[in-house]
Amino acid sequence: MYHSQAKKSGDRHLGLSIVILAAGQGTRMRSDLPKVLQPLAGKPLLSHVLACSKALDADDICVVYGHGAKLVQSYYANESLRWALQAEQLGTGHALQQAMPGTPDANRVLILSGDVPLLMPGTLSELLRETPPNDMAVLTVDMKDPTGYGRVIRKHGSVSAIIEDKDAGADEKAVLEINTGVMLCPAEALKRWLANLSNDNAQGEYYLTDIIAMAVNDKVTVHGIKASSPVEVMGINDKKQLAEAERALQARLVDELMSEGVGFADPARVDIRGTLTCGKDVFIDVNAVFEGDVELGDGTKIESNNLIRDSRIGAGTVVHSNCHIEDSSTGQNCEIGPFARMRPGAELASNVKIGNFVEIKKSTVADGSKVNHLTYIGDTEIGTGVNVGAGTITCNYDGVAKHKTKIGDNASIGSNVNLVAPVEVGEGATIGAGSTISRPAPANELTVARVKQTTVKGWKRPVKKGS
Ligand code: UD1
Ligand code: CA
Repeated sequence: MYHSQAKKSGDRHLGLSIVILAAGQGTRMRSDLPKVLQPLAGKPLLSHVLACSKALDADDICVVYGHGAKLVQSYYANESLRWALQAEQLGTGHALQQAMPGTPDANRVLILSGDVPLLMPGTLSELLRETPPNDMAVLTVDMKDPTGYGRVIRKHGSVSAIIEDKDAGADEKAVLEINTGVMLCPAEALKRWLANLSNDNAQGEYYLTDIIAMAVNDKVTVHGIKASSPVEVMGINDKKQLAEAERALQARLVDELMSEGVGFADPARVDIRGTLTCGKDVFIDVNAVFEGDVELGDGTKIESNNLIRDSRIGAGTVVHSNCHIEDSSTGQNCEIGPFARMRPGAELASNVKIGNFVEIKKSTVADGSKVNHLTYIGDTEIGTGVNVGAGTITCNYDGVAKHKTKIGDNASIGSNVNLVAPVEVGEGATIGAGSTISRPAPANELTVARVKQTTVKGWKRPVKKGS
């Protein structure tokens, strides 16, 4: 079950087990969604902690789950994790205890919280490096306002106790150094200490933090290792802290992109909820929201107020203001919008123009074609060099099934045309404005399907009586 090839023989404690405490309800969130599934930058809190854990070389990662068990476990059904159920949430110490069966005695245990999502792997590697194998460590930080956190009490430099906020007296409350919840401990001793916890405290819980005093009692040194930034180790207990963490993470993501050369009109007015990959000379204006996996090619420009989800935008393409783009792709040098919608399966080749109030769904548009105004294109194949006039609608749905429209290269569709699918417009064909086309329109010919214009001679407009 445990691969131990990374361990050096002769050193008992080099194996690493990570345990993530994630069973709590998160009462202060006031939400039906378990706390660890609350979204941060588009992913659950727990996913951020898992990503950080996976960056370390651990033998196993165990998640202690409990509140919203089914929901939490099914979200991560495809990941190889060890799960430990804490059926009743009796405190952080009790939670950790549930993960102990199956944790090898010879390992060190790195304890993380599912609600501390901004932690960086580098901070944890340092903690692992700086702590001698048989010692214990607590990651601490100085907070301007330590309210709510456990206070770190030191004696001769090392940590002698952690006092929870609710149990702290005035002197302890004045301490600014807090417990981040991240701890490192030899497994064998940890198991012993956890078995001896009591719940005789203000919250009637089995506090994990009480093991510090036991360690001290057993002459195990507890190193208090200070993290450099309070933001990185902030715990998320309510919506206010969640929003604070969101801004902090957004700033971190945008900083990374700027250092890679991406330009932002305002680094504070952009949201990345997933992975944004950018080429050279990309520029992003205010209020752009990126969700899922988005790729922006070299020299792309994203104007203000755009939502782009799981899509690829080709080099040199401009997305004008106010577009909604999902599961779509463009080639090079396209122009989209303003006010365009690309729904799943919209695939543009290069030099394509999609204008205002145009919706494209599950359709391909080949090189150099234009769909500039007020149009719906669904389940359609558009060839190269096609011009689709204003107000054109592909009537793709007959009330039961969807049907395909095919428009050949260099065809020209007049304004206000209905293309009743299944239907095909030949290469170089021209469709007269206002036509409803339900049969094949031959190549290189003009096809018109509309009522002939007549003039009624001598017709008088009705007039109101008495006027
Ligand atoms: C905890 C620490 C506190 C520290 C703070 C840092 C204790 C007793 N207190 O307080 O010293 O400053 O984190 O953010 O450890 N959990 C379970 N089962 C439970 C209870 C909690 O799995 O029975 C999980 C929660 O899901 C959460 C984590 O443990 O991910 C921390 O629990 P929480 O109730 O948020 O502890 P804090 O009061 O923040
Ligand atoms: Ca917390």
